[in-house]
Amino acid sequence: MGGRPLKCGLRPDKINETNQSRSNARPFVSNSIRATVLCLVINASLPSYAVEEFRHTITGELLDLSLAKGTDTEAVKQFKEGGKNPYNANLEAIKKGGRLYLSACSGCHGHNAEGKLAPGLADDYWTYPKNATDKGLFETLYDGAQGMMGPQRGNLTIDEMLLIMSWMRSVYQGDPEKAEWLTPEEQKNFKPATHDIAK
Ligand code: HEC
Repeated sequence: MGGRPLKCGLRPDKINETNQSRSNARPFVSNSIRATVLCLVINASLPSYAVEEFRHTITGELLDLSLAKGTDTEAVKQFKEGGKNPYNANLEAIKKGGRLYLSACSGCHGHNAEGKLAPGLADDYWTYPKNATDKGLFETLYDGAQGMMGPQRGNLTIDEMLLIMSWMRSVYQGDPEKAEWLTPEEQKNFKPATHDIAK
């Protein structure tokens, strides 16, 4: 999706054309220079980073991130580029995420993400296996799944979703080897936070 810079520049054959055009008394600013300037102007209006493609958990349709509340924080920009949650394992973020989780999610998923009306979020069973990745989990939060799991984008900013995700990952009780959001090195060292620390 968008964000890929267009190729700008004068090709050697075009430069020759420019030189010839002067002797033919054509306008001083050649078409190829005009095209280059236009191209630079267009590029300046596109985001300078490549944005990942995010898709709906059920339909697979592309998500429109412009519908999100609030403005993009540094963490959100980083996440959009690489699909990794920069708040994972950040204690401050985890605490904020825990408070947000309590008000936005615990009524259905349980205070400690153990499951209630809705499935548990701290074990290694996922209805949608992609929720074991940061990108997949974000997609489920942003635009929802089935039934009662509605889109959260009207309620939370993307930054707040990333905070909640970092809390969820911190209280994970499942097999570390199934924690796809961790590198193999991190999987070896993973210890779930106690719920008291996380809140
Ligand atoms: C009104 C109740 C309700 C609220 C509030 C709610 N959920 Fe859900 N959630 C559900 C239900 C029901 C499902 C199962 C839907 C499905 O399987 O498609 C679900 C599914 C999920 C899943 C997929 C789990 C899997 O096994 O793949 C995730 C992740 C999730 N919710 C996270 C959250 C988070 C985080 C919040 C808070 C921001 C939240 N939910 C708020 C009801 C809720």
